Amino acid sequence: MVPVMGKDQTCYRCQECGGAAARWAGRCPACGSWNTLVEERIAPRRGRVAPRVATAPRAVPIAQVASDEFRPRSTGIGELDRVLAGGLVPGSVTLVGGEPGIGKSTLLLQLAAERARAGDRVLYVSAEESRPQVRLRAERLGALVPGVWLASDASLPDLVAHFDDVKPDLVVVDSIQTVHDPELASAPGSVTQVRECAHALVQEAKARSVALLLVGHVTKDGGLAGPRVLEHVVDTVLAFEGDRHHALRLLRAVKHRFGATAELGLFEMTDGGLVGVPDGSGLFLADRHEGAAGSVVVPTMEGQRPLLVEVQALVEESKLTQPRRSVQGLDAGRVALLLAVLGKHAGISAAKADVYALAVGGVRVLEPGADVAVALAVASSTRDRPVAHDLVACGELGLGGELRQVGLMGRRLAEAARLGFRRAIVPLSAPDAPPGITVVRAASLADAIRLAGLDERLPVQAAAA
Ligand code: TYD
Ligand code: MG
Repeated sequence: MVPVMGKDQTCYRCQECGGAAARWAGRCPACGSWNTLVEERIAPRRGRVAPRVATAPRAVPIAQVASDEFRPRSTGIGELDRVLAGGLVPGSVTLVGGEPGIGKSTLLLQLAAERARAGDRVLYVSAEESRPQVRLRAERLGALVPGVWLASDASLPDLVAHFDDVKPDLVVVDSIQTVHDPELASAPGSVTQVRECAHALVQEAKARSVALLLVGHVTKDGGLAGPRVLEHVVDTVLAFEGDRHHALRLLRAVKHRFGATAELGLFEMTDGGLVGVPDGSGLFLADRHEGAAGSVVVPTMEGQRPLLVEVQALVEESKLTQPRRSVQGLDAGRVALLLAVLGKHAGISAAKADVYALAVGGVRVLEPGADVAVALAVASSTRDRPVAHDLVACGELGLGGELRQVGLMGRRLAEAARLGFRRAIVPLSAPDAPPGITVVRAASLADAIRLAGLDERLPVQAAAA
């Protein structure tokens, strides 16, 4: 984006998207947000903080480029390695975003300790909390390791000086929003400060082959506050999510230059910090209430990891002229589509009913493979009949009410079998079942409803059998 400069070297910068305008306006011309333009003097730092004699690099044939330096190194935290496709690459820059209180500082302090135990020198810059505060937390986490160096400065030159002192292999900056460059006119936390400081730190990290982790706060709507502009500067963007009222935390790579972004990391927040959860399905199903109408389990895939999730629906006669639709953890548009297919092809109309639908446990299940499970949950609640407790369902629904194949069915069903499920409603084209579970093939949603025992004509006993 090219900043449009006024005569006096000021511009108006959108605090939402980082876009610039020559004149103030109520609405950002770039992203359309209201009241987000703030006046800013344009005096960007030129080049790196400490000038370096740069010998211009030449282009080389692709096969002669060394790839060793991009080998990831294990972080010592299994779930983090999973998301990072092996670990942290030296010289890489990772932005860790998440709402306040979700556990970013905890995770990164644990990471610092793990790396230090493995022999790395780690610089932990905590511009948000005082050093004694961080030390106290480290004690609780068992992270008082000699190789971790603490600094609590927020000024960019001081920070770079610590790079020189400590000569770290790994640097954590908590958070990037608190770092400021005194050479810049704009206020700490402004888009310009965040972007320029991050840029300078990235150059330091690359020049020294230091793995750099930046903490970034996110706003309520899920975007990184201000540093949306940072996503381009860094190699990897991790999103740390979860409900603060639940112990479960989900870590995803939103962007990753060194591997796939599909993997999900699962943690539980305990008194002793974050603990990896290798068996996610078991955790999600722990409190499942068997024999309740409106509950169906779906084997979903998160990257290469199968995860069993319970979807629930509650359908109730509506007293409103426009019935209520409330969806959590599922795609609301998709749920609306499923309700239409249910009405058209299965004779289950929700036109005069309030429908609540959710994925249990704070996860988001957005893949179409969950379609048939959601539709069955709605049918189950509408008819007030439970589906059998050892049944899972998986498949995409077409607008014609047909069940369609989804990928990696074998892995999904094996996970379901491992957790004690015995029958799976799947599309006609599904492969044979792995040992321990039987597939029940359904051509259409109407078939699936019948096979799940939700047909009105069946006696209720048959349904739960
Ligand atoms: P924190 O890492 O400070 O979150 P963030 O840096 O994302 O703002 O963690 C915040 C919460 O985690 C805090 O409310 C307390 C809780 N917590 C634990 O439950 N156990 C622990 O061992 C630690 C360190 C924190
Ligand atoms: Mg923090």
